[in-house]
Amino acid sequence: MKHRILQIGPITAPADERLARDYDVTPLWKQPDRAAFLAGHGPAFEGIAIHVRDACGADILNAVPNVRVIANFGVGYDKIDVETARRLGMQVSNTPRVLDGCVADLAMGLAIDVARGISVTTRFVRAGGWKTGQRPLMTRVHGKNMGLLGFGGIGQAVARRAAGFDMVVRYHTRRPVAGSPHEHEPSLVELARWADFLVVACPGGPATRHLVDAEVLDALGPRGILVNIARGSVVDEAALVRALQEGRLGGAGLDVFENEPDVPQPLLDMDQVVALSHIAGFTRESRADMERLVCDNLDAYFRGGQVLTPV
Ligand code: 8YV
Repeated sequence: MKHRILQIGPITAPADERLARDYDVTPLWKQPDRAAFLAGHGPAFEGIAIHVRDACGADILNAVPNVRVIANFGVGYDKIDVETARRLGMQVSNTPRVLDGCVADLAMGLAIDVARGISVTTRFVRAGGWKTGQRPLMTRVHGKNMGLLGFGGIGQAVARRAAGFDMVVRYHTRRPVAGSPHEHEPSLVELARWADFLVVACPGGPATRHLVDAEVLDALGPRGILVNIARGSVVDEAALVRALQEGRLGGAGLDVFENEPDVPQPLLDMDQVVALSHIAGFTRESRADMERLVCDNLDAYFRGGQVLTPV
């Protein structure tokens, strides 16, 4: 007998295939009336599989009293009501570590792009601008100060790459990370004041909402560059737009936004902004590892009662 899994939304073709092979999977997104379906069938499910983009709140959790495990495809889990899940005795897993390197690579890519103007120069060359002129001088990357907001697996992977660029790294977290060679800065505003680059690498969710506000952006200053590869919710986007428009912030490299896939038009119009479509974890390699880990977590729970990578 296969275990019954409620899948909230499609994950990826290989993950969906493996789940369908090994479990009795019901796609919630294909039910015409979700609430009615859950009211009638919720108690039949033993586990949940979910893509990081989808939400899993108390409305779902309270309707599935026999679910004991939630396997999330993604390192972030800000759309899962983890508190309610824990209260109901459910284990929640995510896919940490397997995408840290790719996300950190992209953070460095964004920092370099904004500082050196790679994307904007491509547009300049394409438009024939080089035939009659040259781009303005830009900013050096190596040797500069990099501040990290968040110092988990991704933040530490960014720090290792920054070391290769001879950058000085400091980080801000609630508590210092034991054994780190980098200085912990208890004040985010002070970290931003010190930094040339401020990289957002902390989890999303209510606890970190708008941590990067107008005060932090002003502290980063007219030559400072903000990089966000975490969650759009961590940055006050309206304040970011104003700071960039008024020249109080030097530039921004953004992979994530507050209301994806909507990107405020002013961010798209400014040359000092590089805007991407939440692609930091989007490589064949990390995707394959995430697919494996989301399924391995379910397998581990049903074989031994314990997920591999609990949140
Ligand atoms: C992407 C992520 O959402 O894992 C996360 O938390 O934000 C990213 O991995 C992922 O690539 C799915 O498209």
